[in-house]
Parts: sequence; C-alpha cells; structure tokens
Amino acid sequence: MGDFIVELAANAHPVHVAAGALDRLGELARAAGLKPARAALVTDSNVAPLYGDRAARALRAAGFDPAIVVVAAGEASKSLATLATVYDRLADAGLDRSSAIFALGGGVVGDLAGFAAATWMRGIAVAQIPTTLVAQVDSALGGKTGINHPSAKNLIGAFHQPRLVVADVATLATLPEREFREGLAEAIKYGAIMDAPMVAALEAAMPAILRREPATLAEIVERSLRHKAFVVQSDEREGGLRKILNFGHTIGHALEASAGYGSLLHGEAVAIGMGAATALSRACANLPAPDATRLLGLIEAAGLATRLPAGWRGAEFDRALKLDKKRAGAGVEFVLIDRLGHAFTRELGFDEIIAALA
Ligand SMILES: NC(=O)c1ccc[n+]([C@@H]2O[C@H](COP(=O)([O-])OP(=O)(O)OC[C@H]3O[C@@H](n4cnc5c(N)ncnc54)[C@H](O)[C@@H]3O)[C@@H](O)[C@H]2O)c1
Ligand SMILES: [Zn+2]
Repeated sequence: MGDFIVELAANAHPVHVAAGALDRLGELARAAGLKPARAALVTDSNVAPLYGDRAARALRAAGFDPAIVVVAAGEASKSLATLATVYDRLADAGLDRSSAIFALGGGVVGDLAGFAAATWMRGIAVAQIPTTLVAQVDSALGGKTGINHPSAKNLIGAFHQPRLVVADVATLATLPEREFREGLAEAIKYGAIMDAPMVAALEAAMPAILRREPATLAEIVERSLRHKAFVVQSDEREGGLRKILNFGHTIGHALEASAGYGSLLHGEAVAIGMGAATALSRACANLPAPDATRLLGLIEAAGLATRLPAGWRGAEFDRALKLDKKRAGAGVEFVLIDRLGHAFTRELGFDEIIAALA
C-alpha cells in the first residue's frame, strides 16, 4: 500500500505516498538507485522553513551531501532568470553527472528543478518531492518539466522523468485553504474521466478530505497518481490517451488567460472548465443527467465553483479558446464524458462550444 512503480521502458521509477515519508527520503532515494553523493535540494522560500531541514537531514542520514537552493515562492520563479541562478548554485556546489537534484515543493519547484536536472550536463537524476496537492496528484508524475516565457506559460521545457516520487501527505497540513481546494479539482478529474467508483469514494470521503486526515489524503493522492501513471505509461509523450487528462482544461485555460493569470488559480479554472465540459457532454455526448448532477455536486462539495463567471465571454476568451494548443482545424479537440468514468476526445466547432455554454 502506498508504493508502486511507474512502468516506463527506459524510465521506470518508484512512487511512495505516505504521511511521514519525508523523513525516509534518503533511504528511499538510495533504494531507487540514486548515488549518495553531492546533490542539490531545490525548494522555495515558503517550503524551505517548513520542510527544508527535515528533507536535508533525511538525505544526510543516508549519505547524500545536499546543497540547499532556495528560490522565491511563486510562478514568477519559472523563469530564465531564476533558472540561471539555479545553474550558478549547481556549479558552485560542484554537481556532476552522478549527482541528483531533489525538488521539494509545489509544481513551480518541480517544473523548474526538473528542467534544471533535464539540462544540467545533458541530464542528471531528479527526485520529485511534491508538497502541494496539485503537485502530489498531478505535476510530480509524468516527466513534464519547464519554465515560462514572457509570451506564454510552459513554452520552454523538456520531458525528463523523475527517478523517484515521494509524496508526504502530512506536508499538506500547512497548505493554504485555497491552494488545497484547487488541488481537489484534478483529483475529481481522474474520477470523472476514468474511475466512476472514485467519484463515489470522493463523495463519501469529502468531509475527511477537507479536514485533511492523512490516511484519507494518502488514499486519494495514491489513487490519482496511479491513474496518471497508467495514462503516462501508455502514452509517455502525449500522443493519444494522455489527452483525456485535459478534461476541463480547454475552457479552464481560456478562462485563466482571459481572467488574467493569477486571479483564478489553475484548479479553480479547471473546476469551472469541468462544469462547462459537463454541460457540453450533456449536449454532445448523451451524458445522463444524474451523472452530470453528481459530478457538479462533487466539485461544489470541494468548495469549487462550476459555473462560468458573469461576463465570461469576451474577445479575450474567444481568442484564448481559438488559440488553444489542442485546436484542430476550425474546431477544438475537446474532452467529453459519456458517463462518469469514461472520457474521449472529439473535435467540436468553436460555435458549437459557445452555443452549448450560452
Ligand atoms: N509538470 C506538470 O505536469 C504540471 C502539471 C500541473 C501543473 N504544473 C505547474 O505547476 C505549477 C503550479 O503548482 P502549484 O499549484 O503546486 O504551485 P506552487 O508551486 O506555486 O505552490 C503554491 C504555493 O504553496 C506554497 N507551498 C508549497 N507547499 C506548501 C506546503 N506544504 N505548505 C505551505 N505552503 C506550501 C508555495 O510556496 C506556493 O506559494 C504551475 O507552474 C503549473 O504550470 C505542472
Ligand atoms: Zn491541470
């Protein structure tokens, strides 16, 4: 329980989900085959004072010698400028090809440190130690790393699979409420697209989840990561099946862009996007009404909005939707569900989407 292997031909790696796993980081890293040597522990200015020492201590106890690299908390650190300072610290610390980078933090640290690892000396080992719910159920697994370009998010990046993922759900106790709830959107997404019983499990467990009971959190984080692993295993580079993970994201991304990045958190936008995708699934994929009602109720029980905000439709929204990376010709490749737990993609015309949402 709590441990499994992501089965990738050249990049198979273990995943550990448990309260308190942070204190076993060093031994888990050795067991994953990382060499106890000079290393870097990359974290951010919020996470460092909370969990930096414990992680460093656990690494030292197993023979690693980590240099601690702290970047400013926040999305702005996914930048070339911050990446340059990380490279400087890796050089100062004398990291070589046998060294590993430990990424301790949310998705920002995971993406930034993962990309540093992907490019340092043409690629060294990275271990992902996610401390936000978003990172624990989503970004830590899958191997996508990168930074933002001033013109768009995640424009510069590389696929670089971690050698190890350690999700200590006890670290979620200190996460701000809004960041915690947004992470639930991605967990609910796995239920909606591929695991109907998970929808029922989330419905039953929501009070315990919102109280952040570690045993319950461990169950939903592990279940989410197993689903992501299944999808990534069958489609490591996002050709086919992995697209269903974009459920709620087409509208979500357009909302994030048109609301101005930062005013809606990603998970909040995805929750509204799932609400819209549910309406479209009713209109275009015969999603039964009771399934739609349950899904919307679950998202709302997590404290997330499902309705498009007043004034959602504007030139900015239309442009963002038309610019969507997944667009195909005149339409957009849209993820729909025809019942809880079953998703597929279909090209929908721009007008068809707008009409169903109006
Ligand atoms: N690589 C992928 O597949 C993938 C998937 C989804 C999202 N992402 C990326 O992830 C980023 C968002 O990640 P995020 O939501 O984790 O944001 P984040 O890393 O900015 O973390 C959110 C906030 O929580 C703080 N924090 C982290 N852990 C904490 C803890 N345990 N206690 C208290 N505070 C804590 C952080 O310092 C930060 O202020 C985006 O850049 C997004 O593009 C990547
Ligand atoms: Zn997402």
